[in-house]
Amino acid sequence: MNNKKQIIVSGTRPSGKLHIGNYLGAFRQWLELQDDPDNKCFYLIVDLHALTTPFESKILRHSILDFAATFLALGIDPNKSVFFLQSHVLEHSTLAWIFNCFTPMGELERMTEFKDKSKLNAANINAGLFCYPTLMASDILLYKPTFVPVGEDQTQHLELTRNLARKFNNKFGKTFPEPKNYALKSLRVKSLSDPTKKMSKTGDEALLLDDSPTEIHRKLKKAVTATTSGGKSPGEENLMFLLTHFGTPADVVYFIEEQNKGTLKFSELKETLAKRIADYFAEFREKKKELLSRPEELAESLGEGSRKAREVASRTLLEIKEKIGLL
Ligand code: TYM
Repeated sequence: MNNKKQIIVSGTRPSGKLHIGNYLGAFRQWLELQDDPDNKCFYLIVDLHALTTPFESKILRHSILDFAATFLALGIDPNKSVFFLQSHVLEHSTLAWIFNCFTPMGELERMTEFKDKSKLNAANINAGLFCYPTLMASDILLYKPTFVPVGEDQTQHLELTRNLARKFNNKFGKTFPEPKNYALKSLRVKSLSDPTKKMSKTGDEALLLDDSPTEIHRKLKKAVTATTSGGKSPGEENLMFLLTHFGTPADVVYFIEEQNKGTLKFSELKETLAKRIADYFAEFREKKKELLSRPEELAESLGEGSRKAREVASRTLLEIKEKIGLL
C-alpha cells in the first residue's frame, strides 16, 4: 500500500472579486481534493502577484481579508488544508528570484497572460508582471505537488512550471515533480457580455460569488446570446454549461429538450439559472458576512497557516540552495 499523501497546491490573486469562473475552474476542485484524507492541500492567497497590476494599499489590505473570508465561507477548512498568505512565506520570493535566473526572457515574452495584461495596462508594464510566472512556479514547486487545480487560462503558466522543474532536475539532480492540472479537461467559463472571451474579475460581465440574487438576475438578463452565424451561439453554450453545474437534473433535461425542439426561450433559461445560482451561494453569502465581522480571526487563521507552509517551504529552499551552491 502506498501511504504517501498526494500534494495539491493552488492559489488566487486578491484582486477584484471572485466569480463563478474562479469557482468552477478552481475552488470546486480545491474543496473536493481537501476532503480526501490521502491529500495534503496548500491553498494560498497570492498577494505579491496582486502588486503586478495597479492597486491601492487600502483596497489591497481589505481584499486580502475579503479573500480569506471567501476561502473559509466556501468551505476551505484550515484543519484539513494549509490555507495561507504568499507574502508571509518569504521563501516564495527567494525561489522566484532563483527561477528568474533560469528562465530565458523569450519564454516569459511568449506568455499570453503577460501579453493580455500588458495591453490592458499599457502605462504600467512592470518587471513584476513579466516575472509573474516564475513567482507562480515557486508557489507551486516549493511544496512539490502532484496536482495544481487551475482553470484553462493557467495552462501555459503550469507548462512553464513543469519546464522549470525539468530543467532544474536535469542540471542539479531530481528535486521537483512535474505537477499536472487536476481536471482531466480544464475549464473556461465565458464572459456574459462577450462569450468569446473568458469571464474575468473586472467588469459587468462576471457573476460574482458576492452578488445578491437581484444582481445575479440583472446580470443574467443582460447576458449576450445572439448568434452571428446561425446554430448555437457561444452565449447559449455558456449558459447551458452553467446550467449543467448549477441547475437540477430536471432543469438540464428540460432545457436540452427545448434546445432540441428549437423552442428554447432564453428569458426562461436565464430566469431558472439566476434562481439556481442565487440559491447555490445563499449560505456562502451569509457565512462570509459573519466571518468578515471578525477580521482578527481571519488574520490569525492566515498567520497559523503561513507558519505551517513555512515549515515545508523552508526545507525545500534549503535543499535548493545546497544544490545550486548557495549557503
Ligand atoms: P486567478 O486569481 O486569476 O484565478 C484563480 C483561479 O480561477 C481560474 N479561472 C477560471 N476558470 C474557469 N473559467 C474562468 N473564466 C476563469 N477565470 C479564472 C484560474 O485558472 C485560477 O485557477 N495565476 C493564478 C494565481 C496563482 C496560482 C499560483 C495558481 C499564483 N500562484 C500557484 C495556482 C498555483 C491566477 O491567475 O489566479
